[in-house]
Amino acid sequence: MRAIVYSETGDSDVLRLTDRPVPEPGPGEVRVRVVRSGVNPTDWKSRRGALSHPEAVPNQDGAGIVDVTGPGVTAVGPGDRVWVWEAAWGRPDGTAQEYVVLPARQVVPLPHGASLDLGASLGIPALTAHHCLTVAEGGPDRLAPGALDGRTVLVAGGAGAVGNAAIQLARWAGATVVTTVSGPEKAALAQAAGAHHVVNYRTGDPAAQIRAVAPEGADIVVEVAPGPNAVLDRVVTAPQGVVAVYANNGGDDVALSVRELFTRNIRYQFVLVYTVPEAVKDSAVADVRAAVAAGALRVGEEAGLPLHHFPLERTADAHDAVESGAVGKVLVDVAPE
Ligand SMILES: NC(=O)c1ccc[n+]([C@@H]2O[C@H](COP(=O)([O-])OP(=O)(O)OC[C@H]3O[C@@H](n4cnc5c(N)ncnc54)[C@H](OP(=O)(O)O)[C@@H]3O)[C@@H](O)[C@H]2O)c1
Repeated sequence: MRAIVYSETGDSDVLRLTDRPVPEPGPGEVRVRVVRSGVNPTDWKSRRGALSHPEAVPNQDGAGIVDVTGPGVTAVGPGDRVWVWEAAWGRPDGTAQEYVVLPARQVVPLPHGASLDLGASLGIPALTAHHCLTVAEGGPDRLAPGALDGRTVLVAGGAGAVGNAAIQLARWAGATVVTTVSGPEKAALAQAAGAHHVVNYRTGDPAAQIRAVAPEGADIVVEVAPGPNAVLDRVVTAPQGVVAVYANNGGDDVALSVRELFTRNIRYQFVLVYTVPEAVKDSAVADVRAAVAAGALRVGEEAGLPLHHFPLERTADAHDAVESGAVGKVLVDVAPE
């Protein structure tokens, strides 16, 4: 089978196309014929980081068709269309290859009508967004229609991949959604994703604009840039609210006004999708699956997430596109459906 691998870390030119044997599933495992591989910032960051295996296939997310199941697998069967999550976490085998073998838990059926493009866009962004939306004091710890009724969610960077998923999941769960963006094109995307209110954080007084539409403040802030947004978040987060930080865009250091934050019992919660407890992750997967089945998670320009396709042999260009801040979702076409 064709696979993209790297055996040294660095620029995207460490990625090379090679032939590998098709892997066999063991007990409890599933072999997926990968059609689409999804690229996230974590994939180029890993490729630039420390090599944890002598040879690694990049990319955590993907979608395809179940090919063979190992003994004991009942949840999916050959021919099922599926999405997979965290394929390359702690393993040398991501989705930039024609077949990937994974524990059955990481292989999730796609409902009829949901595209493989959508499937390959879910893993990292949707599971991260789900966790950010379920860490507030007093819950909810699950998302479903009505779970966030009466709550206001502020999504920083609503045109980003995680931001887009956070807007869509928060809307599905009934929240009032406010989001920030850096310009008019991204504003249109955030609106297409379903945000009720879009604020340009680079012009005027964003805090005043957010307060104008959410006078009580935001109960949940889904934060991509905690350093640059520390003052804004302090001003617009509601008492008992949570700032769920999933990235360090704009810098790793955050200056907090502790007294002002503790006076209102505001919580900072740091989120890394890979290390959330197993049961919590399983709940997130179930909720995301339900949102997909309900048609509440979508991709494409009309859903605020333009798609950019690259053929497998141009996986390096796909990585570069994500690293240089492509707006929308970067996908690798591994094989025809
Ligand atoms: N912790 C985790 O588990 C986890 C999971 C997924 C992703 N991540 C990390 O999260 C980050 C985003 O990932 P992604 O896939 O969503 O990337 P993306 O699609 O490139 O989106 C990043 C977004 O952040 C916005 N942004 C940057 N600075 C901002 C600011 N000061 N205020 C508001 N928005 C701002 C950008 O918009 P503008 O450029 O227009 O401001 C952009 O829309 C990456 O660093 C990634 O590694 C972490």
